[in-house]
Amino acid sequence: MIAESLSNAAKHARASRVVVAARLLPGELVVEVADDGIGGADPGGNGLRGLADRVADVGSRLEIASPRGEGTRVRAVIPTTEIA
Ligand SMILES: Nc1ncnc2c1ncn2[C@@H]1O[C@H](COP(=O)(O)OP(=O)(O)OP(=O)(O)O)[C@@H](O)[C@H]1O
Ligand SMILES: [Mg+2]
Repeated sequence: MIAESLSNAAKHARASRVVVAARLLPGELVVEVADDGIGGADPGGNGLRGLADRVADVGSRLEIASPRGEGTRVRAVIPTTEIA
């Protein structure tokens, strides 16, 4: 998810900044990639659809916020299992 989102930011966003954040909380891993570029990402594109599918396979939903002119934020909250 991070690799595809960074690649999208580099290819499409015309951003000056990209922030990658991951936080491990009890029971979930939150992953976010946000850029300050042009926005307008199309969730129906092949790359983003593939990403949504892969994230769905691990029980999560991909959230894409990409208003035009206001950057793009891709986020997933992935449930984790405890390692005994
Ligand atoms: N971070 C972003 N900023 C601005 N536009 C974006 C961003 N990410 C995606 N887009 C737009 O949404 C479209 C769909 O993205 P997607 O990743 O599905 O396809 P792609 O990157 O064009 O092709 P692929 O991922 O298959 O190489 C892109 O073509 C681009 O127009
Ligand atoms: Mg892509």
